[in-house]
Amino acid sequence: MKCLFKHAVIGAFAVAFAGVAAADAAEDPANVIKYRQAIMRSHGTHLFPIAMVVKGEVPYTEHVAAHARAAHAVSLMLADVFPEGTDIGDTRAKPEIWQDWAKFEVAIKALQTATGELVRLAESGDMAAVGAQLEEVGKACGGCHKPFRKEKQ
Ligand code: HEC
Repeated sequence: MKCLFKHAVIGAFAVAFAGVAAADAAEDPANVIKYRQAIMRSHGTHLFPIAMVVKGEVPYTEHVAAHARAAHAVSLMLADVFPEGTDIGDTRAKPEIWQDWAKFEVAIKALQTATGELVRLAESGDMAAVGAQLEEVGKACGGCHKPFRKEKQ
């Protein structure tokens, strides 16, 4: 029994590693697009709950710093998820991203700075300041969407 179990475990690892290898190799544009759209949505997943706390709709002030850190962590992934060739398919990314990558990077940096400050304020526990900073974060989202994201069809 013990031996069987061991084999099962080794088998499971082998499958897991094969999966990892495949993921390393794959940069299928359609999957990258899906992945980055999920990442984008996860910003909202963390910022919306912060807004609820700040407005006093729920009492979970001790969650706010963790949400802020999650949003900041996601902002640090953005430069990775726009490889060239991912402007075609089921995406609202504008070709301007790759035509003016330097400007796009500035927009990424603006969000990273805004969410970094959100973390700092959240950790200080000053919910009024967190609320004000949420607006700055929102501006950084819009500051990229306006030039670099197509309107919904
Ligand atoms: C540096 C540019 C940039 C920043 C900053 C940015 N976004 Fe985006 N966002 C995009 C682009 C480009 C798309 C379109 C992606 C696609 O369709 O492939 C997008 C798409 C989205 C979507 C739609 C995802 C879907 O399901 O298709 C949401 C929601 C979103 N962003 C929320 C946010 C929020 C909230 C913030 C700020 C916290 C933010 N974004 C910051 C560039 C940015």
